[in-house]
Amino acid sequence: LTPAVYAAAADNPTNVAHRGASADAPENTLAAFKLAGRQGADMFELDVRETKDHQLVLLHDPTLSRTTNVESVFPDRAPWPLSAFTLEEIRRLDAGSWFGPGHSAERIPTLGETLHTMKGRGMGLLLEIKDPDQYPGIERRVAAELRKNSWWLQPGRLVVQSFDWRFMRTFHHRMPRIPVGLLGTPAVSQLRTLSAYATQINPPYQYVTRAYVNRIHRLGMKVFTWTVNDRNDWRRLASQGVDGIITDRPGMP
Ligand code: G3P
Ligand code: CA
Repeated sequence: LTPAVYAAAADNPTNVAHRGASADAPENTLAAFKLAGRQGADMFELDVRETKDHQLVLLHDPTLSRTTNVESVFPDRAPWPLSAFTLEEIRRLDAGSWFGPGHSAERIPTLGETLHTMKGRGMGLLLEIKDPDQYPGIERRVAAELRKNSWWLQPGRLVVQSFDWRFMRTFHHRMPRIPVGLLGTPAVSQLRTLSAYATQINPPYQYVTRAYVNRIHRLGMKVFTWTVNDRNDWRRLASQGVDGIITDRPGMP
């Protein structure tokens, strides 16, 4: 099963579940990724960071406090930065109850278990590396994990993105066949240089115009935009020619 990372039809952008189906399940958990598939997502997005012992795990924020019960499990370790906790400690945390009742079984997943669990389920993966400057060598560890789970390396299954464009250039040289997404809104004058290693430009939807999309397309790149949770915004962006829409509500369109 090869998911279509890039939708074939014009006006029908690739539907990307932001941190999974995060409007309906706790973000960056296996439950949210599986639900995204059931809601019809073409791809799911996730955020990768590292623990104190250099294990790759999924967490959006630099600290554990918003999306886990860390404050009650480790009350004396405020402000609970992920980088101060080992994987074994993180495994003890409930990563679902903050979202609502019925989610207490969720744990912070490792990247490895996510790649293993989600392969072959018909969705592609948009893998964001958060704050890579804080995790020296993370590109080596992500590359090793992807090679271990090589199902994801077939064409059309994976895009790696970051707000750190220089880091993505380094990553591209390490794994040149993996499509690279750059988060943010580069100036038009920067686009040609970036197209040497970027496959897609991924701006916030408020900055997307038809002219900007056209400039990016003329350089052979795609546009994936975020975070679009309103149906009218979805329609506008689709008509402006974006290739992918990143949403908390993949069941919406
Ligand atoms: O994929 C786009 C989006 O995830 C970037 O912002 O803060 O939700 O990681 P953020
Ligand atoms: Ca993200």
